[in-house]
Amino acid sequence: MTDILLGQVLSFHADPFTQGPEAARHETHGAVVIEAGKIAATGPADRLRAAYPQARVTDYGSSLISAGFIDAHVHYPQTAIIASWGKRLIDWLNSYTFPEEIRFADPAYAAEIANRYLNLALAHGTTSMCSYATIHPTSVDAIFTAAQTRGMRVWAGKTCMDRNAPPALRDSAQSAYDDSKALLQKWQGRDRLSYVITPRFSPTSTPEQLSALGALWAENPDCLMQTHLSEQLDEIAWVQDLYPSARDYLDTYEAHGLLGKGGLYGHAIHLTDREKDRLREVDASLIHCPTSNTFIGSGLFDMCLAQNQRVGLATDTGGGSSFSMLRTMAAAYEIGQLRGNPLHPAQLWWLATQGSARALRAEDKIGTIAPGMEADLTVIDLASTPAIAQASARAADIWQAIFPTIMMGDDRAIRATWIGGKASA
Ligand code: GUN
Ligand code: ZN
Repeated sequence: MTDILLGQVLSFHADPFTQGPEAARHETHGAVVIEAGKIAATGPADRLRAAYPQARVTDYGSSLISAGFIDAHVHYPQTAIIASWGKRLIDWLNSYTFPEEIRFADPAYAAEIANRYLNLALAHGTTSMCSYATIHPTSVDAIFTAAQTRGMRVWAGKTCMDRNAPPALRDSAQSAYDDSKALLQKWQGRDRLSYVITPRFSPTSTPEQLSALGALWAENPDCLMQTHLSEQLDEIAWVQDLYPSARDYLDTYEAHGLLGKGGLYGHAIHLTDREKDRLREVDASLIHCPTSNTFIGSGLFDMCLAQNQRVGLATDTGGGSSFSMLRTMAAAYEIGQLRGNPLHPAQLWWLATQGSARALRAEDKIGTIAPGMEADLTVIDLASTPAIAQASARAADIWQAIFPTIMMGDDRAIRATWIGGKASA
């Protein structure tokens, strides 16, 4: 069966941080042809309808067909504690996050939240994500099983902690290695799933645990590794106390084999020049979590780093205050404004699609609309509320038409999502 979707089609053939808005390709009366779960062709609707006369047609009118949003850093177990009031990072973890994560010892609860989270993500147009699970191996099984049912491309890993966490959320250096290795062998490369080695952050791991996970990464260099880096100033001071011989926060990872290409460093706000240089030298990925950085009061990420570094965009649910990558783009724009760097709508949209795909080293599979790419798509109504409709009605070009949805849009703007060439329910 061949499907042909009609609408305005937006995709990227280059990086707008280096090439400007010309990196985007926009077709007002466009089409996307899907065969066997992949994009077979894209271009003007008239030409493709003539080329594929037997195809089943879905006409989205003037809605925008985009690559699905990719959330490069999320904690699915924090779904139910999103929007918890009044704490900064360490108190927030102890007051809200850890008590909730303890509940994931129950596999039925983990399955319930994994399914709830993926349904919310899809309703917000997010077709792929890279998630932390909890300390419990069954919490990894829960998110991968739920993703497998939906045919989604998902990355996830068991969160490892062997100190500075409640006893019910502690593993050890050895069990973190053993459990992570077993999960990696079970899930890596199965369907569209990828295992990610996941030390939570330096304060909750002993040097022995960081070394054990560094060894596991060295044994599996094709795996991604995710952690947190330099999110809040008192966290950085704590890391200095815990690792007195480290040159800086990044050095606590570097010294234990946890710095490299395929490393995903969440937040990365308060970096020294040495840290910035090293992250760039090894071609690591930085993950910008703007709604989280304002909600927990962490600071303002420097988007200039995206000039010569892989940078992904992420909700960081539930430290982040929204499941929506539209809301996340809006927060990235506002943080850019506070730093004197107003991001162009092309840059914001690219970050939520191809930028995150590049950060996850999957830009050959997802994140753009081009022949051979997996058919994960999001269809967006650019007039989803009266407020957005009246602003976009004045638009003189595609970016003016899209920007009100970036700034004011949410799940009401999502008309459809397609996963692996199938319209999801
Ligand atoms: N640092 C360590 N763990 C977490 C977490 O769960 N959320 C955020 N935002 N930062 C963290
Ligand atoms: Zn996080």
